[in-house]
Amino acid sequence: MTDPTAESDSSELSSTELSLAPATVAVTAGRPPRVADGPLNAPLVPASTYHAGGEIGYGRYGNPTWEMFETAIGALEGGVATSYSSGVAATAAVLDLVPAGGVVVAPTTAYHGTTSLLRALTERGRFVVRALDLSDLDAVLSALPGADLLWVETPSNPLLVTADLPGLVSAGGAAGALVAVDNTFATPVLCRPLEMGADLVVHSATKYLSGHADVVLGVAVARDPDLVERLVATRGTQGALPGLLESWLALRGLRTLHVRMERAQANAVELARRLADHESVSRVRYPGFGAIVSVEIRGGADEATRVSEGTRLWVHATSLGGVESTLERRRRWPSEGAEVPDSLLRLSVGIEDVEDLWSDLARALDPVLG
Ligand SMILES: Cc1ncc(COP(=O)(O)O)c(C=O)c1O
Repeated sequence: MTDPTAESDSSELSSTELSLAPATVAVTAGRPPRVADGPLNAPLVPASTYHAGGEIGYGRYGNPTWEMFETAIGALEGGVATSYSSGVAATAAVLDLVPAGGVVVAPTTAYHGTTSLLRALTERGRFVVRALDLSDLDAVLSALPGADLLWVETPSNPLLVTADLPGLVSAGGAAGALVAVDNTFATPVLCRPLEMGADLVVHSATKYLSGHADVVLGVAVARDPDLVERLVATRGTQGALPGLLESWLALRGLRTLHVRMERAQANAVELARRLADHESVSRVRYPGFGAIVSVEIRGGADEATRVSEGTRLWVHATSLGGVESTLERRRRWPSEGAEVPDSLLRLSVGIEDVEDLWSDLARALDPVLG
């Protein structure tokens, strides 16, 4: 929750002062001061108890390791970051900003953890959800009057539907609703919603930000000090704290975010092109950017399952955004939305050699034809 725009120690490299590019900020932000024999990297500080009289006070309210990760992601997204134990915890903290009995405008199809949480909170009477297709701006405009929060996920998981983000941000703002964007798929490399005027950005830092399939972590970023204060307060009172090692690993992973995204995206562009020509694939969903590609397999669920279980290099697993390529049939999860086709495989394209990825995938796809 350290403000990246605040004045820093003169010995620290200030990305704001130097107007560094985001790829440089990812490498430089959230480091200890440059002092002789000081370490370059954030220290791991296991602490529940601090000497009295300081700003942290107790281990549920802050930690120097979390703060270094937050400084870095805050600098990348252009706001102040608060980290949580998971992406879902960050989502829950943002939903907690909605007043009791309020109204949330949200997509019908999004990450199933988000739609499940929205449904659960609605059933408990916490708020009302107006669910719609976010790519239909007119529908959003009609749903916005009286709304407290517009929740945006673009591209959506796993259908990869994109929405007009600047249009949604200005419509939400004009209606007086907070606009929160789940930026997990795009990452700040490809999209910076706060710069477009969104109020909040949420990430499953489990995915691209950390990037190595070894962390569960979430983060919410805001500019408005009042929102930041409320997000921090929710974390302290509800206790969904980021893990210390997770914060450290995520910060380490963040250093290579730009090169990982560039490589994974280049692989995804090429694979999406080849998949579109493959006879076993009836539809490719790829928004033209990012590194997630969803494909529908000819036949149905059984054929798709066989493909997901038939690769040797690609890992059959859920989650996404790691250096390694993974794939799965999304409807194997009972909570996945019924609008997601039974035969849809979501591919998270990693940074391996693209020819190796293609030959493994093509080998698994070929039996579908027979
Ligand atoms: C788009 C999106 N948002 C949020 C989440 C939730 O994140 P976490 O699993 O870290 O709680 C996920 C998880 O897959 C996701 O894909």
